[in-house]
Amino acid sequence: MPREKVTIPALYEKMRKGQKITMLTCYDYPTALLEEKAGIDIILVGDSLGMTVLGYDSTLPVTMDIMIPHTQAVRRGAPTAFLIGDMPYMSYQVSVEEAVRNAGRFMQEAGCDAVKLEGGSNVVDVVRALTKATIPVMGHLGLTPQSLSMLGGFKSQGRSADAAKKVIDDAKLLEEAGAFSILLEAVPPEVGKIVTERANVPIISIGAGPHCHGQLLIIHDMLGFFDRFTPKFVKKYCNINEIILKVLEEYVKDIETGAFPEPQHCYTMKAGEHEKLLELLG
Ligand code: KIV
Repeated sequence: MPREKVTIPALYEKMRKGQKITMLTCYDYPTALLEEKAGIDIILVGDSLGMTVLGYDSTLPVTMDIMIPHTQAVRRGAPTAFLIGDMPYMSYQVSVEEAVRNAGRFMQEAGCDAVKLEGGSNVVDVVRALTKATIPVMGHLGLTPQSLSMLGGFKSQGRSADAAKKVIDDAKLLEEAGAFSILLEAVPPEVGKIVTERANVPIISIGAGPHCHGQLLIIHDMLGFFDRFTPKFVKKYCNINEIILKVLEEYVKDIETGAFPEPQHCYTMKAGEHEKLLELLG
């Protein structure tokens, strides 16, 4: 039985019942098929694909035109998951109008259920406008990778009382502006707990401790498929790089030694056709 479509009311129901919400990033069709099968509630097509898939040093080079085809592919593989398109750098900062137009592309061209954008008090006007345009928004506070330059690197946030208070205040502002959910990245569990206790919307943690309503990881991190660096909050469930490398080395060796291809990998000619061909060729 295919599961029912995951909706905002279904996510709120999980929150109310104290059931944890599962969330994972995804960037392509075959992985989406697996995440759908595994029953992931929310799939985020994150602009992290700039680093994990495209090999950039940050998420800043990612554009809407890069995000859209990846998001469409994920939707094709995961028809019932709640799908969120991540608004890339400069797709919502220039003006509210541009933000609505770009968020609308995620909904209209890629079949998203919502969009995500980074920031607190500085983006409440955008969150309000998108909500008014019937585009659900997930906020994103704490470590916000698009502000890499201002934060001075991929560093944990909210570790002083003042910084933590700013995160807590921003979460309230986002909720008041209409955000249906908020993602908290790389903040101490104490901060995650306070934000969660005060929230009326699902708070999802990526490195914000166990008290939040749900958890997110980047799929390449948890599979061990991205080894440039691994944040402290990542649980590595396997080292898929090791497995893939072993297979690739075996493939190279098989070709070099003639162990591949074998007869079962070859097509057969119809009976008598080979002889006929040799005759034709003289
Ligand atoms: O792009 C992404 O995958 C994200 C996560 C880091 C939260 O925004």
